[in-house]
Amino acid sequence: MSEHTPTGAQPEEPSGSEPVRLDQGHVQGTGGVPEQFANPGLPPHVLRNADLDEKAAKRAERQVALLFLVSIFGTVLFIVAYLLVDTGTQVWVPFTNEMSLSNLLLGLGLSLSLLGIGLGAVHWAKTLMPDTEVVEMRHPMRSQDEDRQDFVDTMLEGGESSQLTRRPLLKATFGGAMGLFALPLLVQLVGSLGPLPRNDLSVTFWDKSENGKSDKLRLMRDPENTPIKPADVTIGSVFHIQPEGLLDLHHGKLEQMSKASVLLMRLNPKDFQDTDRGRKARSWGHEGIVAYSKVCTHVGCPVGLYEQTTHHLLCPCHQSTFDVTNDCEIVFGPAGHPLPQLKVGVDSEGYLIADQPFQEPVGPSFWERG
Ligand code: FES
Repeated sequence: MSEHTPTGAQPEEPSGSEPVRLDQGHVQGTGGVPEQFANPGLPPHVLRNADLDEKAAKRAERQVALLFLVSIFGTVLFIVAYLLVDTGTQVWVPFTNEMSLSNLLLGLGLSLSLLGIGLGAVHWAKTLMPDTEVVEMRHPMRSQDEDRQDFVDTMLEGGESSQLTRRPLLKATFGGAMGLFALPLLVQLVGSLGPLPRNDLSVTFWDKSENGKSDKLRLMRDPENTPIKPADVTIGSVFHIQPEGLLDLHHGKLEQMSKASVLLMRLNPKDFQDTDRGRKARSWGHEGIVAYSKVCTHVGCPVGLYEQTTHHLLCPCHQSTFDVTNDCEIVFGPAGHPLPQLKVGVDSEGYLIADQPFQEPVGPSFWERG
């Protein structure tokens, strides 16, 4: 009920000549409601070049055909790239550095294929298809009751005459056959997703199985690729770190970096919380220097912001916040679990090393991680 209508009273219907309040719908002039609204009609139809000139129409036809040819070329390029181009072949592309030739051609092919069809259809519609305005009066969509009943009768009759209703065995097997009919398609789709990741998501370049070295790896500044000593890490500073040898890779460097990147910072040892997690974080560090995976456990953005006063690490993507003083436990945001810590130590020459690889997978959760 409107707050302007007295309790129990019926709201008055305004007539065409009586003034109404401005909050009561359409008004005219000083407040009178018109008897009826004039139909504004359609704007005059404007003919296009292609409607007036056969040459322009031919030109538009050629342009549309060219766009469809671009699409055909893109599709062929995609199929050729899929079948013939080795996925290990790398090419240098301006602004993006090295990338897989196969991925480049697949992407280009699919883009041209879809873009050609899309642009061709739009251009066709705008230049050649009829564009006269047509009015279709609205009518009820619901069928007549007799038609609806006829449909039900026909269905029942069909079920009866095919003996589906009387023969449950037929009904069950037919239902099973139809239900499973789509499975081959589904199997092909899932089977084409490529090999299972196995332990690719759990192992990083810090593991011997990945770097092929028997020594513990040094922590290297990124991008300088120089080792780092504890004295270089002052309280409040933060370093972007890669494992020794990773930045020298020629193949698969970006993939390895995306898993192995680490943030290194130094806290006053007194700043760690007196909790199980806080004590563990301090003991896995070296004189307050601690290292954590830079890969956000939400959807994998780089956790790039360190607040030195609160000792919080922030992910800029969705604002997940991790408390370094308590082993990077989540204090805010959608991340699923704390950032994994890398245990650090010092080698015989005084450089920081990883005492052991990550003890849990880095990055977002996945099925096998649990
Ligand atoms: S990826 Fe870090 S919060 Fe979403």
